[in-house]
Amino acid sequence: MSDVRTVVVLGATGQQGGSVAAALRADGWAVRAVVRDPSGHRARSLSAAGVETVRGDLGDPRSLRTAFSGAHGVFSVQPNSGQAGSGVTDEDEVRFGTAVADIAERCGVAHLVYSSAVTAGSTTGVDHLDTKNRVEAHVRSLDVVGTIIRPATFMELLLTPGTGLDRGHLSFLMRPDQTMRFIAVRDIGRIVAAVFGSPGRYAGRTMEIAGDALTGRALAEHLTRAAGRPISYSRLPTALLSQDEVLGKVAALVDDGRLAGSANLDVLRAAFPFLLRFERWLAGPGAGLLDEALRSPDAGLAPR
Ligand SMILES: NC(=O)c1ccc[n+]([C@@H]2O[C@H](COP(=O)([O-])OP(=O)(O)OC[C@H]3O[C@@H](n4cnc5c(N)ncnc54)[C@H](OP(=O)(O)O)[C@@H]3O)[C@@H](O)[C@H]2O)c1
Repeated sequence: MSDVRTVVVLGATGQQGGSVAAALRADGWAVRAVVRDPSGHRARSLSAAGVETVRGDLGDPRSLRTAFSGAHGVFSVQPNSGQAGSGVTDEDEVRFGTAVADIAERCGVAHLVYSSAVTAGSTTGVDHLDTKNRVEAHVRSLDVVGTIIRPATFMELLLTPGTGLDRGHLSFLMRPDQTMRFIAVRDIGRIVAAVFGSPGRYAGRTMEIAGDALTGRALAEHLTRAAGRPISYSRLPTALLSQDEVLGKVAALVDDGRLAGSANLDVLRAAFPFLLRFERWLAGPGAGLLDEALRSPDAGLAPR
């Protein structure tokens, strides 16, 4: 009989879950991905990489019970209710996140890792961010060994195609001299694999995770070097931040430090030496995204 233990991964066809599935496989775990469409392109890529795919839906508790049966661990991430066109409401996100935790507890899962966000820990007044507080509180209330990670803003978000990099300009949430923490999606997976690998060290912990801290000016310098042509930086226009209530609140969370993050990068790098700084990410996993963003015409897509 094989003694390889199984971790169930939610969202494995997406960014975080995909990174977690790959890192767990690399560490020798058996991985079971809950996917809505096992015949889809991304699910088939997972199968090709040795991941078991089972049909399921976050809105269908029965499918989760079947998927969690006999598993050692569960990685829980929910689709972003704040993302335009996601079709997921804030209440859906909370319902999905609490259902995953409840079912993990009932199935006797030994370790649940919930991916929250850097802004959790206090009420922000931004509904699609405060969903994470509600799920975190529920996870902590259960009789299940849990670890909560709070990822910083993804480096990938900076290179969203259509935001103006083709014209040599990046606009984001912080001021040019303000620091914000970022993490490469690849590293979320590696950290989660390390967490499952050392439950004694990480059980019961809530950890903010990040790989770099960058001002707007530093972003422009790194991007200029990587692109081989000048890239300037400015904060998103004040008019936009005052017209768009949610975006204005999100920028205020950078100003008060809650979205900017406060993780101790020295401590994190000591625990997770693989953590990529932005410069190395741009030359590695981010190179293709940079290339695409530099070629995609500006469509005025402001980040959220
Ligand atoms: N962007 C950032 O900087 C940042 C920072 C910190 C935290 N976050 C949080 O990260 C989360 C999103 O993670 P991500 O970027 O990895 O997501 P993503 O790439 O958008 O992927 C979402 C995943 O969820 C799956 N999914 C959607 N609805 C489902 C359902 N009803 N049942 C089962 N699976 C379903 C999708 O599967 P399909 O392939 O079937 O669609 C996909 O695999 C959000 O909660 C967001 O708030 C984001």
